[in-house]
Amino acid sequence: MPQHRKVRLGVLGCARVARRRFLPALAAASGLELTAVASRDPARAAEFAAEFGGEAVAGYRNLLDRDDVDAVYLPLPTGLHFDWARQALTAGKHVLAEKPLTAGLGETEELVELARRTGLLLRENLMFLHHRQHTAVRELVASGEIGDLRSISAVFGHPPLPAGDVRYRTDLGGGSLLDVGVYPIRLAQFFDAGLWQVAGAVLRRDPRGADVAGSALLRSAAEHTAQLEFGFEHHYRNVYRLWGTEGLVTVRHAFTPGADKPPSVTVERPDRTVELDLPADDQFRNAAEAFARDVLAGAGVDETGDAEAILRQARLVDAVREAAAAPHRGARSGRGDGATLAR
Ligand SMILES: NC(=O)c1ccc[n+]([C@@H]2O[C@H](COP(=O)([O-])OP(=O)(O)OC[C@H]3O[C@@H](n4cnc5c(N)ncnc54)[C@H](OP(=O)(O)O)[C@@H]3O)[C@@H](O)[C@H]2O)c1
Repeated sequence: MPQHRKVRLGVLGCARVARRRFLPALAAASGLELTAVASRDPARAAEFAAEFGGEAVAGYRNLLDRDDVDAVYLPLPTGLHFDWARQALTAGKHVLAEKPLTAGLGETEELVELARRTGLLLRENLMFLHHRQHTAVRELVASGEIGDLRSISAVFGHPPLPAGDVRYRTDLGGGSLLDVGVYPIRLAQFFDAGLWQVAGAVLRRDPRGADVAGSALLRSAAEHTAQLEFGFEHHYRNVYRLWGTEGLVTVRHAFTPGADKPPSVTVERPDRTVELDLPADDQFRNAAEAFARDVLAGAGVDETGDAEAILRQARLVDAVREAAAAPHRGARSGRGDGATLAR
């Protein structure tokens, strides 16, 4: 693809996250243009195209067959990500898939291998990583402001969803671990890039079979601990804390801050408590622009770090699920090799 032009993007599925978050951000982002929107329902595709631009396409396959699409944004129910990401890569399209990339490690490994073979970009769209507040907090911690980091606690949960929501459908990759649990799991790796192991985990299922609440305790090679909680049956919470030997940082609205809302970050030390003065930031737009930059640069998944990030995340998510399924067998390793650790 010539280096000078924009990435021509197609969207597979007229999803809520596309309407509420991604497509409005895309309209303001540089480096990409929306050329096609596909839906199973032609009327819905037409509605989206009228609102956001691009051509309405009936059926996802027809979008993948188009020559005017370089890359696809994939906001389908999680259980459909693997099949459509595979088809998109095979059709020569770069893929920006909503989180989580797939419902399991085996599928993720297969997609990463396919991206490597085809030289196409494959990215798991965890948009919070593109908000500058987290980089500012990481720099603050590195500067020693809270002493030595000891533990991370992170929570993402919300009240029950409407009964028919796809997140309760196990056949479509539903469940709170894959939907909200992936945020705190990824966050722990943002603040400590070393190996994490799962010391214990619990997933609570409702009668429909999907997990609706979970907790995990992780420890890293650097001896940090991470206590992570998530679920669909909770008072809304979306916050993390980094606790060090000399202070504590609390980040509120951590994973889905509005683009016009200044961050809410508090630093507590024995001698003072300070609210950090950080600017508002648009993580949705940043995520889209970062994807475009890497596609236009012709960077592959190893060069960009996507392969490593995607695989580490998938291993850790699998390890949490395994630890919750077999707590009596002992703790599980984030390496995904099933190693049992001594208690
Ligand atoms: N990064 C974020 O901030 C964020 C936020 C929310 C969600 N997400 C992720 O984005 C994905 C979509 O979430 P969402 O809440 O936007 O989903 P949603 O509103 O339910 O939309 C999913 C879309 O998938 C298509 N689809 C294809 N087969 C389907 C089926 N069998 N059942 C239902 N829909 C089907 C539908 O589009 P057509 O009918 O038009 O074909 C539908 O609009 C999930 O993976 C989720 O984890 C990410």
